[in-house]
Amino acid sequence: MKAVVYGGPRQVSVEDVPDARIERPTDVLVRITTTNICGSDLHMYEGRTSFEKGSVFGHENMGEVIEVGGAVDKVKVGEMVVLPFNVACGYCKNCDRGFTNYCLTMQPDPALAGAAYGFADMGPYQGGQAEYLRVPYGDFNCLRLGEDAAEKQTDYVMLADIFPTGYHATEMAGVKPGDQTVIFGAGPVGLMAAYSAILKGAGKVMVVDRHPDRLALAEKIGAIPVDDSAVDPVEFVLAETKGLGADNGCECVGYQAHDPQGNEHPNETLNKLVKAVRFTGRIGVVGVFAPKDPGGPDEFAKQGEVVFDYGLHWFKGQTMGTGQCPVKRYNRQLRDLVAAGKANPSFVVSHELPLEQAPDGYQHFDNRDNGWTKVVLHPGQSGTRTA
Ligand SMILES: NC(=O)c1ccc[n+]([C@@H]2O[C@H](COP(=O)([O-])OP(=O)(O)OC[C@H]3O[C@@H](n4cnc5c(N)ncnc54)[C@H](O)[C@@H]3O)[C@@H](O)[C@H]2O)c1
Ligand SMILES: [Zn+2]
Ligand SMILES: [Zn+2]
Repeated sequence: MKAVVYGGPRQVSVEDVPDARIERPTDVLVRITTTNICGSDLHMYEGRTSFEKGSVFGHENMGEVIEVGGAVDKVKVGEMVVLPFNVACGYCKNCDRGFTNYCLTMQPDPALAGAAYGFADMGPYQGGQAEYLRVPYGDFNCLRLGEDAAEKQTDYVMLADIFPTGYHATEMAGVKPGDQTVIFGAGPVGLMAAYSAILKGAGKVMVVDRHPDRLALAEKIGAIPVDDSAVDPVEFVLAETKGLGADNGCECVGYQAHDPQGNEHPNETLNKLVKAVRFTGRIGVVGVFAPKDPGGPDEFAKQGEVVFDYGLHWFKGQTMGTGQCPVKRYNRQLRDLVAAGKANPSFVVSHELPLEQAPDGYQHFDNRDNGWTKVVLHPGQSGTRTA
């Protein structure tokens, strides 16, 4: 089958790899129709993780079930499904408590928890930027879609990761109706956090970034765009909140946060959030931070140690939530919002490309080129569509 294969920093190619297949009776085999490139892929693409050469990318996957193992009861051949990026067993102590983001059995390294498709340090599961995907514990991991699956595929595929992840940021931040919230990052995840805050009835949502196309999308959904290349975002938020700071905040950038000139400071968004969020406010951090970052800008960063303004965070009595999103906690309800026409997360999509054009898609999305806000790949198609 054709798949998007990592060849080293900023090198991907579409190559023939062995077909994904049913390996255990609990597996489901999916023919991928729709699969996204994510900001998380870019950390790997840029060579800033331990992602091995030859690995297949792709953790935001949707498609048609074409085969099921003998122990699969619920999921049927022919159904359209979207897969949480987390690969989870459903029966371990963490899954049992709803933390499918830190499944204990699907991660082969006993020192770690949490597995994903096509991801550094998250188990041996091949990614879905490919024609086919093996889904372990298919009955647990597949979310089935209705008859509108094909028509709304660019909405539904966002349930694999970024829509639940943005929603999770707002859950960890405790966003409630009427709240004033600030979101750092207007990439796809930040935009989904803003969208989720708005769906929850937040009174004022401020989104910080410096890319005009991304800020324009934030404005389009009803958020206030904050261009940090033109204004100090902390001062801006304080001015908008009577000097008190936002009720809560979301970090949707991660350890490769940089200033508008492009110099990396892994502590930049965290420390600005501590300043921009009020006393007792909550902060949800979904941007990825790594335990080791050999390519980091200084000795602390290389050890995964962020120079964090803990004194002020403590002094303000703030609370912070972190980590990968447990997609299964939210994907069913968010699916039903899409089905009911009450949520359209596909507003972030700028490009739909055939799988063969993935290298181009990676290059443009990685450059944050103007107008490349989210790339959706379609294996088995050759036409190109630009939204
Ligand atoms: N926790 C999870 O489960 C989860 C899931 C998906 C993605 N992620 C992570 O979320 C992060 C964002 O993902 P994405 O797809 O939106 O990526 P992205 O790289 O497309 O977007 C990041 C945005 O942050 C902006 N940015 C950089 N420095 C900034 C700063 N100092 N202030 C404000 N904005 C700044 C960039 O301009 C860019 O628009 C990544 O770290 C990704 O790995 C986490
Ligand atoms: Zn993702
Ligand atoms: Zn588990």
